[in-house]
Amino acid sequence: MTDTKKSIHGQWSSRFAFILAATGSAVGLGNIWKFPYITGENGGGAFVLVYLLCVLLIGIPIMMAETMLGRRSRQNPINTMVTLSEEAGADKNWHYLGWMGVIAGFLILSYYSVIAGWASAYVLKAFTGSFFGADATTIKGLFDNFMASPIQLTFWHSLFMLATMLVVVRGVNTGLEKAVRFLMPSLFVLLILMVAYAMTFDDYYDKGIKFLFTPDFSKLTANGVLTAMGHAFFTLSLGMGAIMIYGSYLPKDVSIAKTAILIAGTDTAVALLAGIAIFPIVFAAGLEPASGPGLIFQILPIAFGNMTGGWLFGILFFVMLVFAALSSSISLIEPAVAWLIENKDMSREQACIRSGLVTWLLGLGTIFSFNIWSGFKIFDRTIFQLMDYLTANLMLPIGGFCIAVFAGWIMKQQHTEQELDMSDALSYQVWRFLICYISPASVFVVFLHVVGVL
Ligand code: PHE
Repeated sequence: MTDTKKSIHGQWSSRFAFILAATGSAVGLGNIWKFPYITGENGGGAFVLVYLLCVLLIGIPIMMAETMLGRRSRQNPINTMVTLSEEAGADKNWHYLGWMGVIAGFLILSYYSVIAGWASAYVLKAFTGSFFGADATTIKGLFDNFMASPIQLTFWHSLFMLATMLVVVRGVNTGLEKAVRFLMPSLFVLLILMVAYAMTFDDYYDKGIKFLFTPDFSKLTANGVLTAMGHAFFTLSLGMGAIMIYGSYLPKDVSIAKTAILIAGTDTAVALLAGIAIFPIVFAAGLEPASGPGLIFQILPIAFGNMTGGWLFGILFFVMLVFAALSSSISLIEPAVAWLIENKDMSREQACIRSGLVTWLLGLGTIFSFNIWSGFKIFDRTIFQLMDYLTANLMLPIGGFCIAVFAGWIMKQQHTEQELDMSDALSYQVWRFLICYISPASVFVVFLHVVGVL
């Protein structure tokens, strides 16, 4: 494989552009919407600790592996697995790993877009002053009414899907680079501001911090451990080829290790900030941490409705949340689009229209889970819950496990060494140890724990 190999879809203009795009993929609804509500549902501190450990021991090594695989092959995840398994003289069946990733991307985007639609609707609600002076009950009523309307939810979901496809049609490495460059830092600043506001709740602030950072393992179930691990994959965009495809647009001379650490660090910081901003308000408003997927939509508007400058901050916050979601959603669909272009000879437009339509249609299942089909359950879960469980708790960890095994055991060591090109031998050995043993074994142990073997 030569160093001059490039993706037919182009390349990032610099290391910084890749960092922005990959951080854009990682930071999204996972950090601000999902992390707080699953932390609330799973009892707080112990859950957060397991999640942080998973980011460190599983997430970072696998992020390096995924980036490396993509950059080495410079193709979509399916073809990457074909090419690299050929190179390693391994079984062709590895390409199913790429397939699972592409399918996981579709499934995730189908509900991701619905939730991003909620965030978009909340931009308008913030703008029209719906939160002004509102208390917890009013805000909850607002949310419940919104959930009860399939038409409104479908409208916002459609709008978000359209926006996603409009960006993807131009190629992910053109338009978005510029937007993310300025939106990411702004989101960060706004979150810090929210934390500062949460601090004014004195005792409740302490209670929030305690909830997040004091582990009480009696509150953590086996399924909670699985959710924490699954979330480490979800929030870092790992296990389905998003980071792999972004890696395939990465210039050759960039240090994969440093970049991965930076991205994972930023992503984790955003999630923790969101948690710190939200839980004090949850307690101050007398709400349940375990309020489910509506949590931030029932909490943050209370803050915006009552703080000085809340009107403006509310608008800005939800706008940025939508953009953070957009920079993630494009990475969910890009593997499929790249595959359609590379293997099915489609134009980018054709590929976008088809994959976009399929995802949009699937999203209706999630929408109806919150209203007309809320009683329809498979394995005791609504369609939304099923999609979430299937992807975040099963497909991504299984995908990540296979990526670790492939990078650690199947690829030639010489190739991984060459591709990662780490400055000192020790860091490479640490990565190798993690990817060969620790990451796959941890995933395996968590699965055994869930099925009750351990
Ligand atoms: N990481 C994104 C988030 O936290 C979601 C995502 C998952 C994006 C998987 C790409 C792949 O919002």
